[in-house]
Amino acid sequence: MKIITVENYQEMSRKAAEYIVDKVISKPDLNLGLATGGTPKGVYKNIKEDHKKNHTSYEHVTTFNLDEYIGLKQEDPNSYYQYMYENLFKHINISLTQTNIPSGLNENIQAECTEYERKIVDAGGIDLQLLGIGSNGHIGFNEPGTPFTTKTHVVDLALSTKKANARYFDKINEVPSQAITMGIQTIMNSKEILLLVSGKAKQDAMVKLLSGVVTENFPASILNQHHNTTIIADEEAMELVKNMSYVR
Ligand code: F6R
Repeated sequence: MKIITVENYQEMSRKAAEYIVDKVISKPDLNLGLATGGTPKGVYKNIKEDHKKNHTSYEHVTTFNLDEYIGLKQEDPNSYYQYMYENLFKHINISLTQTNIPSGLNENIQAECTEYERKIVDAGGIDLQLLGIGSNGHIGFNEPGTPFTTKTHVVDLALSTKKANARYFDKINEVPSQAITMGIQTIMNSKEILLLVSGKAKQDAMVKLLSGVVTENFPASILNQHHNTTIIADEEAMELVKNMSYVR
């Protein structure tokens, strides 16, 4: 894994957006994997600003989001569909038909999982997957203990994840208990991964990730075995790993 340390959240967001825009310019039909949450909001803001200023085109880009809550309607302000629409899709020239987010409303949720995997494969796989990390090491909604072999599947959210995400809801009991997520294998099949890490809350996660120990108890640790992963982390997130000798 290649690590780029930057000063702060703004710098991380700017660098990551630049990274993604460069990929889109060199491969206009990029299959781009996207994440939600607090971490990538600044990246999307920078992509939006670049689009306005430099007219980078997303006309031929196809996107695949990592995950979605089960049971929230698309128009629910907390659905990841709304998040993506408000933070990115409505600001760039991408047709919504080229954006893919697993549906947490399909009555046959197993069929939805199979279909989502098929769509990714049919598109030729994900070229670049953007990731955030949970403080418990989750990637997508793959919580600790998830087998590394999983494809898109349904998960019960860990209490720590519900607590972390409760900030977006009125009450913690409004946070859905389940989500549909790309599996760890799905994520690992991406040709390239860009992991963003910012802030104090992720310091312990960085120590575990960079210890090099690969364990299903810390899902992101599998990224140590991905051949093309770049981490952009800010100084605060890197605080505890400063003195670790990371060799990979
Ligand atoms: C979001 C996702 C999650 C988040 C993680 C970190 O689509 O898949 O794994 O990346 O929960 O969330 P933030 O960025 O809010 O700290």
